[in-house]
Amino acid sequence: MRTYLLKLGSASVLALMMMSPVHAGGNKVTGADYANGKSVFENGKGDVPACNSCHGATGLGDDNLGTPRLAGQLYQFLYKQLDDYANDRRQDTAMYVMNANAKGLSEADRRDVAAYLNSLGRTFKGKQLQVASGGSDIAALKEMGTEVGQAYVGKIMVYYGVPERDIPSCYSCHGFNGRGVEPMYPRIGEQKLTYLVAQLKKFRDGERKNDPMAQMRKVAEKLTDEDILNVATYLTQAPPTTLGNTQVPPEHLP
Ligand code: HEC
Ligand code: HEC
Repeated sequence: MRTYLLKLGSASVLALMMMSPVHAGGNKVTGADYANGKSVFENGKGDVPACNSCHGATGLGDDNLGTPRLAGQLYQFLYKQLDDYANDRRQDTAMYVMNANAKGLSEADRRDVAAYLNSLGRTFKGKQLQVASGGSDIAALKEMGTEVGQAYVGKIMVYYGVPERDIPSCYSCHGFNGRGVEPMYPRIGEQKLTYLVAQLKKFRDGERKNDPMAQMRKVAEKLTDEDILNVATYLTQAPPTTLGNTQVPPEHLP
């Protein structure tokens, strides 16, 4: 199943590789200017506002604004999203800002800020990588009246899918607990709940169409509102490490 999917994806993976600098998991992006990326994130550039004003001081996203976590996201994925916004392959229908933001940055700026964001949230204790959770606080959201689901039901879908409804496991593409698989399957574990719910509905309703070969739309079209809430509630607090091994394997480094 996995090999089949990866084969399907190879054409667009190749296209991605050709347009963005080579990046092996966890390593620095060749040719990227991290200082410029940091400056774009913290100060903006020209007419483009500072990214941290909406995505949070440390890039962990914000449930109140509906913005995604960007810290520790895969470099190639971030670069692709900015490229998709810049070329109108993806529309920001939440705040209507991201298309203009991406267009206002040069290709080099987009590369630099994507590389910088990928490196955020990476701290070490000795040689052990510590990954900031940054997921949503379910209890707090519930208290504020946000609808949340059942994490244990969502966990089953993340691990096994729902075979009788032809829903594949999220794990099969997005990796263990949705920790991401370079270069094209984004990290969805520890992403903000509001954002996860919004994007799953957008894929389901065909409002977001920038997923290579409609891979994500084919999954989302089978999900009910309840499925979406359950899966998002689990994922937002799903750590990238297993109980038996607290080290993140190098290929899954944020
Ligand atoms: C005014 C608020 C705002 C500002 C400023 C802003 N963003 Fe965003 N950003 C959003 C919203 C809202 C979304 C979700 C849009 C959607 O639903 O497609 C988003 C989505 C994104 C995504 C897609 C992430 C994913 O997981 O698919 C990236 C990448 C991104 N922003 C990068 C940036 C960068 C880089 C900057 C600074 C140059 C920036 N943003 C500035 C509000 C903002
Ligand atoms: C067949 C492979 C595949 C499966 C299975 C799959 N996804 Fe995805 N998903 C993708 C791809 C590819 C993308 C990236 C689309 C893009 O490039 O914009 C994606 C993107 C996403 C995003 C948007 C992330 C962001 O930051 O914008 C969410 C949320 C998501 N998937 C959730 C899920 C959930 C939940 C499941 C399980 C119910 C799942 N996916 C199963 C392939 C898959």
